Amino acid sequence: MQHNSGQNGSPVSQSACGLDFGTSNSTLGVCGASGPRLLALEGDHVAVPSAVFFGAEAQSAFLIGREAVAAYVDGVTGRLMRSLKSILGSALIDERTAVYRRRIRFSEVIGLFLAELKQRAEAALDAPLDAVVMGRPVYFVDDDEAANRHAEETLRTVAQAIGFREVSFQYEPVAAALEFERRHVSGEKIAMVADIGGGTTDFTVVRLSAAGERRDERASDILANDGVRLGGTDFDRQLSMHAFMPGFGYRSPMKRGDIEVPSAPYWDLSTWSSVHQLYDPRRLAELREVRFDAREPALIDRLMNVIETRRGHSVLIAVEEAKIALSDRERAETPLAWIEPGLSVEATRAGFEASAHALRERLDRTARACVAGAGLTPEDIDYVFFTGGTSQMPAVRAAILAPFEKAAAIDGDRFGAVGLGLAIEARRRYG
Ligand SMILES: Nc1ncnc2c1ncn2[C@@H]1O[C@H](COP(=O)(O)OP(=O)(O)OP(=O)(O)O)[C@@H](O)[C@H]1O
Ligand SMILES: [Mg+2]
Repeated sequence: MQHNSGQNGSPVSQSACGLDFGTSNSTLGVCGASGPRLLALEGDHVAVPSAVFFGAEAQSAFLIGREAVAAYVDGVTGRLMRSLKSILGSALIDERTAVYRRRIRFSEVIGLFLAELKQRAEAALDAPLDAVVMGRPVYFVDDDEAANRHAEETLRTVAQAIGFREVSFQYEPVAAALEFERRHVSGEKIAMVADIGGGTTDFTVVRLSAAGERRDERASDILANDGVRLGGTDFDRQLSMHAFMPGFGYRSPMKRGDIEVPSAPYWDLSTWSSVHQLYDPRRLAELREVRFDAREPALIDRLMNVIETRRGHSVLIAVEEAKIALSDRERAETPLAWIEPGLSVEATRAGFEASAHALRERLDRTARACVAGAGLTPEDIDYVFFTGGTSQMPAVRAAILAPFEKAAAIDGDRFGAVGLGLAIEARRRYG
């Protein structure tokens, strides 16, 4: 094991890193004697959007992160893929998909993305990385042990294929707990970590202490883990179906009978990992027939316009922006003149929150179950530590905090806590 000087002059262990491959954003961290730090992987940014773009032109043949999203938004011909992690644990992961002039497996796409992160990290460090602690959600998918094992195995195989000799895993909320402990804890405390991300929400009940930070074996301090495959992208879908899709014909009537237009296209247009399926020519042919029998064909025209111009991700990007705006404001106006002159969508926080009631309830139930699984009651919890982008939604925070009247709510680094904790773990395991 060699040591050299990192960017900030402090010694870093050269070969080990923590890698948080997130549904929406990814980070990579290393840990030296002075503590963990995340590496800048895209300009000055430490968090890279988990997005890839395969373009038709040589200069945009393969892009990741903000550049990938920008190429798509700028109308460069090619395919944008986001929410790749959501495909882990599903049957799709081993299937091939068309990206310009070739077909590759989704697992290979994840490999290309992670290989690029690794390479950029090694360039930033000026040192090779050959051991990694990868984060994983408590459950990639709900109630399916075999699928969860397969998801972890897939990630392990991908990590080995891109050159990591040592690969191990840590639950994402446990990693966040290690980072919080380093910053916030004096004396012995019981904390519940709530990591509310893009695709999954994870909870860990953990015993934290300044002494614990120095111990290697922490398994006995982790009192319970629980999670649910539900995160920000589900709230995107909810807001889309609630406020945006009606303007594209969702729930509008057909001419005959007491029926509505089919809902499947709206679901796909509202789901990051299935937008692309709408571009199959058969789907457009079906929509032409629906349009013929729809009582408000002008609405279906908007939908067809989005699909024909392959702007599905642009709609979802607009929905996500509106969702984020509603964390700070009571209403959000989204102009969609690029679809049709004068078109815009207004969403209110109250309407969005009411429509997302069932999602919040599932989060609240999972948090309570996690505490019960630790053999504790809500009164035993000293801190609720929030991390993950979706922890900024006021109604989500309130739902999770409700049972924990005694607990102090603390916000960590929303996009970095997991990656920093994984870096701490990498130093413990390999450093
Ligand atoms: N201010 C905000 N209000 C509401 N949601 C937000 C806000 N900022 C970011 N988000 C949402 O947070 C999510 C991304 O969070 P994060 O980066 O923690 O996820 P991730 O780690 O990639 O996902 P996961 O851990 O589930 O794999 C996105 O759905 C994004 O829309
Ligand atoms: Mg995360």
